[in-house]
Amino acid sequence: MPAVLFTCAGQRVDIVSAFARAGATTVAADVDPLAPALYHAHRRALVPRVNAEEYVPALAALVAEHDVDLVVPLTDLDQRVLAQRRNELGALLLLSPGFVVEAMADKYLAHLYFERRRIPSPDTWLPADLPPEIPFPVLVKAREGFGSRHIYRAADRHELEFFLVHTSAESMVQACCRGDEYSIDVLCDLDGRCLNAIPRTMIQSKGGESIKGMSLKDPDLIEFGRFVAEELPIWGPANVQCFREPGGHFLVTDVNPRFGGAFPLPLAAGSRYPELALALAAGERPEPRLGEFRDGVVMTRFFSDLCLTAAGDGSLEPFAEELPEPLVGEPGEV
Ligand SMILES: Nc1ncnc2c1ncn2[C@@H]1O[C@H](COP(=O)(O)OP(=O)(O)O)[C@@H](O)[C@H]1O
Ligand SMILES: [Mg+2]
Repeated sequence: MPAVLFTCAGQRVDIVSAFARAGATTVAADVDPLAPALYHAHRRALVPRVNAEEYVPALAALVAEHDVDLVVPLTDLDQRVLAQRRNELGALLLLSPGFVVEAMADKYLAHLYFERRRIPSPDTWLPADLPPEIPFPVLVKAREGFGSRHIYRAADRHELEFFLVHTSAESMVQACCRGDEYSIDVLCDLDGRCLNAIPRTMIQSKGGESIKGMSLKDPDLIEFGRFVAEELPIWGPANVQCFREPGGHFLVTDVNPRFGGAFPLPLAAGSRYPELALALAAGERPEPRLGEFRDGVVMTRFFSDLCLTAAGDGSLEPFAEELPEPLVGEPGEV
């Protein structure tokens, strides 16, 4: 059985469980003993903070201890350090090249990077470089923002100045897109070849996370997702966010080089991303299956919970005697 180490496992119970169902032994690591995904993995480990010098050695020790075949970072938090030090892990890292990770972590650098690669994205300026004429409305957006934090819409020059003075985050100014927003979950192999691109609509988002959406077999969106992923290039998973503007052209606003927050939707639509990731870990070269997924699958999300109690050794364990669902269950099973 292949073993997969998930870093910054956090709340990504959906991803850890899906890899278990795909046949992996799952090892979840987090700094926080209350990270729910720890308790949905076959094995769990508490690790130092991502910025601590001992972080990567601690992961390497887990790789050795559990004979890990694949390391999958689940948040943005440790991508930079893992991309820089991937050779120290002792197992394959499912993460894009370091220069892509660096660029995508800063939305202004990302915009410059997109321009260099001829990937269309909305006009973006640093506050000090604003041209005399800008197309209002514009957004004041945090450069290293996440979860839709620190994004303010300015209708005119007066509002723009207000937000630029009052935002607490280092920011940029970006033209506001006018069309519909889409999110495309892609998986590429380790040569940057796109294996699938699964677009979805954003029916409703909360705190930057899509909580309701529908898979969409739109050939233009699939092709755009593939194009963006291969141009960057992406290795492993990414979530490409874009708008379809009046006239039909696409503009990219955000790329997260990791599994998207709405992972269960492409999974339900037949992505088989965990199986494909395990195939990559086994050194196989799966053929691209672009557009092979179910159209019109709707996801609606809800909170779940887990109760823990102190184990004899001072650690926490799930309150119920058995490991909680859905470690063994299938999606939709009670
Ligand atoms: N240029 C834009 N025009 C219109 N809406 C935008 C634009 N940029 C971002 N948004 C909206 O703000 C949300 C969060 O922005 P995003 O760039 O994805 O940052 P993050 O997800 O990292 O917080 C997007 O999902 C989108 O709804
Ligand atoms: Mg986003």
